[in-house]
Amino acid sequence: MSETPIPAELAARLRTARRVAVLTGAGISAESGVPTFREAQTGLWARYNPEELATPEAFRRNPKLVWEWYTWRQERVRQAEPNAGHLALVEMEGRFAEFTLITQNVDGLHRRAGSHNILELHGNLFRAKCFSEDRPVESWPDGAEIPPRCPRCGGLLRPDVVWFGEMLPTSSLRAAEHAAVTAEIFFSIGTSALVYPAADLPFNALAAGATVVEINPQPTPLSPHVTFSLNGAAGKILPALVAQVWGDAGSHS
Ligand code: OAD
Repeated sequence: MSETPIPAELAARLRTARRVAVLTGAGISAESGVPTFREAQTGLWARYNPEELATPEAFRRNPKLVWEWYTWRQERVRQAEPNAGHLALVEMEGRFAEFTLITQNVDGLHRRAGSHNILELHGNLFRAKCFSEDRPVESWPDGAEIPPRCPRCGGLLRPDVVWFGEMLPTSSLRAAEHAAVTAEIFFSIGTSALVYPAADLPFNALAAGATVVEINPQPTPLSPHVTFSLNGAAGKILPALVAQVWGDAGSHS
């Protein structure tokens, strides 16, 4: 099956660009076997109700259910490995003077793949924070209680992820907005482009004059606005892009 070819004009712009920013969503991890959110049948929100699992009210109502659901997601991610799409982004990081990888994913797969300059806008599944104090907690005594308790104040621990109705971490969001408006080329990869404020970032980049590239097998609300739309799986298109722009020596196959 042939994938979308990389437009020669995009390859040329990538060869000379100095500042690049990338926004990723659940689709980049789909080929690692990590479920997305909104896809019919397979998406997490097709099978689970976010109002029962991903809001502060849900946690107040049933903290054990919420903690256990996140533990289940952690286990799924532990069994997954970064895929060719994550690895191509590691390769790209070394090719530009400035490269910012902004992710909505909480799975930590970009870091495991070897990317460095990562902004995690929605937190991380493998970190916890105190629900009462809203402060990160590194470790806690092993006990039978679920969720475990904060070693400082005795409050309940919660996953350090952003739930519906919560603010994104301010410093990461500011850094992401800065990267978007200063990038010459901005990629939106594997995201439905529906969840704000992350979904604003490609539009901010467009307004600031960037070339905006979308990689997704399905159209999104962003698609009509982008400079280049690469229709297909990130794990196929990104390695092909790296190979075409910098030669096969640069690709991870
Ligand atoms: P979604 O599930 O909304 O969208 C996943 C996107 O990935 C869809 O547009 C798919 O077409 C695309 N996709 C699927 N397989 C792909 C592949 N192999 N390569 C490239 N793209 C592929 O996930 P997000 O956009 O990440 O928030 O969702 C955004 C936020 O909504 C998540 O961070 C999460 C969720 O509620 C929180 O939990 C705060």
